[in-house]
Amino acid sequence: WVAPTGALLLGYALGSIPFGVLLTRLAGAGDLRAIGSGNIGATNVLRTGRKGLAAATLLLDLAKGWAAVAIAAALFPGDSLLAAAAAFLGHCYPVWLGFRGGKGVATLMGIVLALHWPCALVYALVWLGLLAGLRISSVAGIAAAISAPVSAALLGRFDLVLLLLALALIVVWKHRANIGRLLDGTEPRVGRARG
Ligand code: G3P
Repeated sequence: WVAPTGALLLGYALGSIPFGVLLTRLAGAGDLRAIGSGNIGATNVLRTGRKGLAAATLLLDLAKGWAAVAIAAALFPGDSLLAAAAAFLGHCYPVWLGFRGGKGVATLMGIVLALHWPCALVYALVWLGLLAGLRISSVAGIAAAISAPVSAALLGRFDLVLLLLALALIVVWKHRANIGRLLDGTEPRVGRARG
C-alpha cells in the first residue's frame, strides 16, 4: 500500500498548488477568485490584463500535471495513473481553497503529455486550433479534454481510455457555468474583459 499511497499524496500535493491564485497575489493583482469568472486558471488570470502572469499560470498548471505523473513513474512504477488522477483532482478540488479549484484543462494537458505524448499533441492542436478560431476558452478546453480519451483509443492506448474519459467528464462538469453562458450567448471571448 506504500506505493499507491505515495502516488496519491504526491499527485494531490503537486496538483493542488493553485498557481493562478499565488502568482496573481504575488504580483499584487488581487484575489483571482474575485475577478472575472472567479476561476483560478490562466484564462481568468488573463482578465487581470497581465499576459505574462497568464502564460506563467498556464505553463505551471501544465507542468505540475506532467511532473506528478513523471515523478510517480520514477518513484512508484505501476502507480502513475493514480498519481495522474490525484493531480487532476488536486487541481480541481484543492483542500487549500476549500475544494473550489480550477477546471482542469491545462493540468490535464500536462498529465496527458506525461502519459502518452502523441495524445498531448492532438490535445494541443484541438485546444489551440479552436482557441485561435473561436476565441472561446471554454469551448477549446472542453473539446481538447474530450479529444484525450478519443485519441488514446485511436492510438491503441486502451489502458488510458477509462481514466482520460473520467477526467474529461469532470472537465465538462467543471465548465457547467460556462456551458450555461454558451447556451444563452453570454460567454466572453478571450481578450475581452468580463463586466
Ligand atoms: O480552463 C478554463 C477555461 O476553459 C474557462 O475559464 O475563466 O472562462 O471560466 P473561464
